[in-house]
Amino acid sequence: MKRLTLLVVGCLLLAVAPVRALDNGLALTPPMGWNSWNKFGCDINEKLIREAADAVVSTGMKDAGYQYVVIDDCWQVSRDAQGNIVPSPEHFPSGMKALGDYVHAKGLKFGIYSDAGTATCQGRPGSRGYEFQDARQYAAWGVDYLKYDWCNSGTQEVKSSYKTMSDALKASGRPIVFSLCEWGVESPWKWAAEIGNLWRTTDDITDCWSCTGDGVGVMQILDIEAGIAEAAGPGHWNDPDMLEVGNPGLSLEESRAHFSLWCMLAAPLMAGNDLRNMPAEIREILTNKEVIAVNQDPLGRQAGKHRDYGDVEIWAKELSGNSMAYAALNRGDQPKAVSEYLGPVKRVRDLWKHQDVTLADGYFRATLAPHSVVMLKVTNE
Ligand code: GLA
Repeated sequence: MKRLTLLVVGCLLLAVAPVRALDNGLALTPPMGWNSWNKFGCDINEKLIREAADAVVSTGMKDAGYQYVVIDDCWQVSRDAQGNIVPSPEHFPSGMKALGDYVHAKGLKFGIYSDAGTATCQGRPGSRGYEFQDARQYAAWGVDYLKYDWCNSGTQEVKSSYKTMSDALKASGRPIVFSLCEWGVESPWKWAAEIGNLWRTTDDITDCWSCTGDGVGVMQILDIEAGIAEAAGPGHWNDPDMLEVGNPGLSLEESRAHFSLWCMLAAPLMAGNDLRNMPAEIREILTNKEVIAVNQDPLGRQAGKHRDYGDVEIWAKELSGNSMAYAALNRGDQPKAVSEYLGPVKRVRDLWKHQDVTLADGYFRATLAPHSVVMLKVTNE
């Protein structure tokens, strides 16, 4: 096991390229929160956002580490004569400052969405040409997190477009997490760390295990993440998109696997379901503190694919405290046996069963259900 750990650690260290990361002191572990888009799309209003904030607290998600309540596309309708962005008076009649105050009063943080182009993906006003004015406005509303999209950007140069908003946020004087969303088109893992705190790496996620077309599935996103782990670290994260945990296209087992993998990937954990009426089993997934601790580990390493046995893959993530997390994944439609040599090690913990595991001659053996993950924390001698 020692040799294995050294090998994995060595590979990770070799692969970590020196980056001059954005120095805003934010998102030192992957940001956690809730975002309106995956479940509600444009069907949003201030009542929903307030109820989502209430639910983050009442479901125990706040206690588990979720902080940011983010309003995605469709809150904005126009600009006034001075060029100020105008929230929908119909859907947000109390205004964004009041909504931010409500979220803050819950001990949570407030997030919002805009676009680097002339219009958002849903055709609402974008920030092109208004970056500094918008950033000042967000700061005045108490915004703590900005997701910044890439629709209707025409011939704009991607890096300078995102840099302009990054500079604008800095000039606003308010600490605001900056989330780039250009879908991985221009390989942001190569250049975005000095501009923002996280960057989308793929097309939009959809609530399916494996699919392409109108959005991509959990497995398609996982495959993209395999090659870019070295770009992630404290303050700068690959973003494989928001969670679909609890949305109808995923089974319970798939939701659990999706959540496990995103935790292994040191991904931002932005819940994307309706928190107000989620079943207990979904709440248990989203609030599993042992699994979340892997995601939030202060070393900030992103898991790499450690073994590939076809349908079965073993992913490994270095943790602080001389520990490793392993996820054994069955991508396939049939149950699969896994037998992986781990020992001798001090302690092996099953993070879903919440119990210690006894190895047999140093081997971890299990049968993996289809589309499932077993997640282990291994503490070495
Ligand atoms: C893009 C983004 C999504 C969402 C929508 C909103 O598709 O990638 O995450 O923000 O826009 O229109």
